[in-house]
Amino acid sequence: MRKKIVAANWKMNKTLQEGKTLVNAIISGNSNVDVTKIIFPPSLFVTEFASSIKENAGFFVGAQNCYHTESGAFTGEISASAIASCGATHIIIGHSERRQYFHETAEQLKQKVNLALKHKLVAVYCVGEKLNERQTNHYFTAVKNQLQEVIFHLSESEIKNIVIAYEPVWAIGTGLTASPEQAQEMHAFIRLAAAEKYGISIANQISILYGGSCNAKNAKELFACADVDGGLIGGASLVAEEFLQITNSF
Ligand code: 13P
Repeated sequence: MRKKIVAANWKMNKTLQEGKTLVNAIISGNSNVDVTKIIFPPSLFVTEFASSIKENAGFFVGAQNCYHTESGAFTGEISASAIASCGATHIIIGHSERRQYFHETAEQLKQKVNLALKHKLVAVYCVGEKLNERQTNHYFTAVKNQLQEVIFHLSESEIKNIVIAYEPVWAIGTGLTASPEQAQEMHAFIRLAAAEKYGISIANQISILYGGSCNAKNAKELFACADVDGGLIGGASLVAEEFLQITNSF
């Protein structure tokens, strides 16, 4: 059985105090032990939250990014090994905001994935087409390239430590959500691509999350899709009640 996962990508939001209040509210309101919940706060908070969150069954903490080399003179950057040493278990790699605003390349993302796995972090690898790729019917090619360039070099045992998040760029923070049909179509396509590379049994074990204006109102119909195994939630993860409702939407 694939893991059901709801992950909170706080992006660059919350102070430490605000974050603690949110985490406490999520933990105390949690009623769904079958769903894996991963909190991705700003990296500075990982150490603090790792100890408090991980005592609770089904909760994990991760970082939103790491640098693409092991260590060295890269002022301001954070390594995968530092993140792992602070108690994180997961890491987001290849978020479209990183690709767009920080010009991260496929080669750098591949290096980040390798470093994450080396340091025993589960990598939540984000893929998704831009609006013009959707409109010109190039969305399957765009996503397939993102898979091939960054994670399909991994071995069969390594790919099991990858979670894939399908986040159509046109749906992120826009209030425009992919329809359940659009989400299912792409998730099935991603699983098929994984099956062609690794075989159906391994492909069936990979959790594929949907992200992009997913909220308490639309999560149920998205999570009901056969190949949607949960969500990577941005804005709606910043409010405890809303996030909890999403975790209860399976
Ligand atoms: P929103 O839920 O705010 O659209 O963000 C989605 C996202 O980018 C999660 O990583």
